[in-house]
Amino acid sequence: MPSQHNFTEEPFSGDNIKEIHQLFEKDAGLYSIPLESFKNASINDPDFDPEFSMAFRDEDGRILAAFMGLKRTTKITILKREVNYKFSIINLFVVARQYRRKGIGSAILSELLHRMKKRRIRRVRVMSSPPNYLWPGLDPRYTAAYFFLKKNKFKRKGKEHVNLVHEIPNKLQEPAKKLGEYTFTRINSSDIESTKDYIKSNHMGMWPKEFQFSINNKPFTTFIAKDGSGEVIGFASHSIGFPGSFGPTGVKKSVRGKGIGGILLKWCVWDLKQQGIEQMIIRWVVGDTMKFYCKSLGARIDHVYWNMKRRI
Ligand SMILES: CC(C)(COP(=O)(O)OP(=O)(O)OC[C@H]1O[C@@H](n2cnc3c(N)ncnc32)[C@H](O)[C@@H]1OP(=O)(O)O)[C@@H](O)C(=O)NCCC(=O)NCCS
Repeated sequence: MPSQHNFTEEPFSGDNIKEIHQLFEKDAGLYSIPLESFKNASINDPDFDPEFSMAFRDEDGRILAAFMGLKRTTKITILKREVNYKFSIINLFVVARQYRRKGIGSAILSELLHRMKKRRIRRVRVMSSPPNYLWPGLDPRYTAAYFFLKKNKFKRKGKEHVNLVHEIPNKLQEPAKKLGEYTFTRINSSDIESTKDYIKSNHMGMWPKEFQFSINNKPFTTFIAKDGSGEVIGFASHSIGFPGSFGPTGVKKSVRGKGIGGILLKWCVWDLKQQGIEQMIIRWVVGDTMKFYCKSLGARIDHVYWNMKRRI
């Protein structure tokens, strides 16, 4: 922090998170995030570490800046085996408008990176913090943030990530409960373990972890398909990260191409509609899967996100 300022630092906590959220709502621009989702992405994140969260108050007691980093330790599924995966992220940062371009953001970032380095973190990326995340990278429409990161030695790397949007129509028919031998339902408590096992055996990466967040929602926000013998053969989750998000979803390879994924997707759209949500954001869509959403829902590319990284 530049020495001419007399600011006081405190970590993010249950006591100040509302004020921090208000600063983001007022001054970060572009997105409005409900308080609960903001808490889930910050103080309620499983890897939240107060040392990597920094909020500053000015002489009048108002929060003027807030930065947060995460050292993520999670499990990913590779070839049906769970392995530990570690990476670090700068996931939230804002400086109040009237305090910008005075070097304050750079000073806070430098201190945060210093703390991370002391904890043996060597690489950081920006925003994309699966399995619990708000954005899959930096939305370049945060143009000041892009130049700020660039000035602070972050580089754009790899492919961009894409979110699609589906405007949910006013009139919707309830999706099918059955398709041949396959049945479609919202998951209930007795299905949780078999669904987790299904995801671990059939899908890679962090999906088993992401799925678990849908079980924190009331009612649960995962729909499943079962075959005639009652075995789970597909799933789709929504409202992980924030209300209205869609994903992850997957159908067992041997039964793809029968319309099961489309019905699971439509159950999620239906469920959002019942909650009064008018837009579905399909998150972090990769490659040709975009076509599936475009074809089955008329979804369109909405936002692109850049991968920003640096060594420390
Ligand atoms: C990004 C942000 C934190 C920078 O804070 P800051 O205190 O202004 O940062 P600094 O003064 O240390 O650095 C300023 C640098 O940022 C970049 N920058 C800031 N405002 C800019 C603008 N309007 N246009 C282009 N670049 C800009 C420049 O590189 C600038 O360096 P320069 O002054 O030498 O040209 C602040 O602009 C902000 O809060 N933006 C909105 C929040 C946001 O986008 N957060 C990301 C999503 S959570």
